[in-house]
Amino acid sequence: EKGGYPSFMLKEIAEQPRAVADTLLGRIDGSGALSLDEVRIPPEALREADKVVIVACGTAFHAGLIAKYAIEHWTRIPCEVELASEFRHRDPILDPQTLVIAVSQSGETMDTLMALRHAREQGARVLAICNTNGSTIPRESDAVLYTHAGPEVAVASTKAFLTQLVACYLVALYLAQVRGAKDADEIRAVVRDLSAISRSVERVLETMEPVRELARALAHKDTVLFLGRHVGYPVALEGALKLKELAYMHAEGFAAGELKHGPIALVEDDLPVVVVVPSPRGRSVLHDKMVSSIQEIRARGARTVVIAEEGDDEVVPYADHLILVPAVPTLLQPLVTTVPLQVFACELATTRGNEVDQPRNLAKSVTVE
Ligand code: F6R
Repeated sequence: EKGGYPSFMLKEIAEQPRAVADTLLGRIDGSGALSLDEVRIPPEALREADKVVIVACGTAFHAGLIAKYAIEHWTRIPCEVELASEFRHRDPILDPQTLVIAVSQSGETMDTLMALRHAREQGARVLAICNTNGSTIPRESDAVLYTHAGPEVAVASTKAFLTQLVACYLVALYLAQVRGAKDADEIRAVVRDLSAISRSVERVLETMEPVRELARALAHKDTVLFLGRHVGYPVALEGALKLKELAYMHAEGFAAGELKHGPIALVEDDLPVVVVVPSPRGRSVLHDKMVSSIQEIRARGARTVVIAEEGDDEVVPYADHLILVPAVPTLLQPLVTTVPLQVFACELATTRGNEVDQPRNLAKSVTVE
C-alpha cells in the first residue's frame, strides 16, 4: 500500500503533482474561467461579504496564512487568519456579512469544529475546505470545497497542504470573479498559472537529491531556523513545523523583517538558517530585502540554506547551500518552495532514526480540544 516507497510520507510527497492537478479538475470551464457552482453560497452573499475570516490549526493554519495574501490582493476584501483554538475564546466580531473559511484535512479537528460552530451561531456563513468526504466539518458548514489529495496516511501533512493552498487560491479567484474585483482575462491568466504548477512541483521533486544529502549532513544539529517574507513567511513556519514534528528538533520560523527585532541574537557560528527567497521578478523590493537579510545572518556566521528561483544569480554568493525551484508567480510560490522543506524534514528525521509516518505524541486527527 506504500506503493514501493519506504514510508507513506514519501509516497504522499511524491503524489503532490497529481493531488494539485486533481484539485483543479472540473473547476475550470472550457473558456478557462472558474466554475465553482459546488460552493453553494449564493453569489449575492459572496458579493455582500465585507470580511473573510480563516480558521484552522497547524499546517492548515499555514495554508490560511498564505490564502490571506491572495484573498486581499485579488479581491480587496479584508481577511483575518486565526488559530481555531484561539478564535472562539476571544469573542470574535462576526455577522452575516462575514465569510468564515474553515480549513481542515481530516474534517474532524475539534478546535476547528468548535470555531465554525461558534461562527455559525453568530450568523456568519461558513465555507469548509476539506479533504475528507462526509466528515463533520463539511457537514456542519454552509458549503464545502473538497481538496482532492486522496487519503493522507502519514501524520505530517504534505499533499493535503498543497491542495489546501490550491483550494484557497480557487476560492480567492472565485470571490474576485463573482464580485467583479478582477476582469475575466486576469482571472483566466491566474488560472493558467495555477494549472501549470503541477508540472513545476514535479520538477522540484526531480531535483531533491542534494536536499536529502544536506538533511543527512545537518542531522546532528540542535536547531534550525527558517526565514521568509510575504508568502514565504508562512512557508518558513511550515518548514519549521515539519522539522519539529518529524525530527523532534528545535526549529523556528521567522518573518525576515523581524530578525533585527530580536531573533538575530540567536544566530551563531554554523547555525543552519533556511531562507525562502521571493522571486526577483515582480515585486523586487521583497527580493532585495531578503538578500540583505541573508547577508546579515551570514556575516554573523549562519550557514545559509537558500531556496530561490532558478536564474536568481544575486543570491548565489551568499548561499552556503542553494536549492533552486522553478519560477512561478509570487503568490503561487509556496506551492513549489514548501516541497524541499518537506523532503528536508523527512530525510533528516529518517537519519535520526525516527518513525516519520507516526511521530511520537501525535495523532493524525485531533478530536479533542
Ligand atoms: C502537521 C499536521 C497538523 C494538522 C492539524 C490540523 O503536519 O498535520 O498540524 O495540520 O492538526 O489538522 P486538520 O487539517 O485535519 O484539521
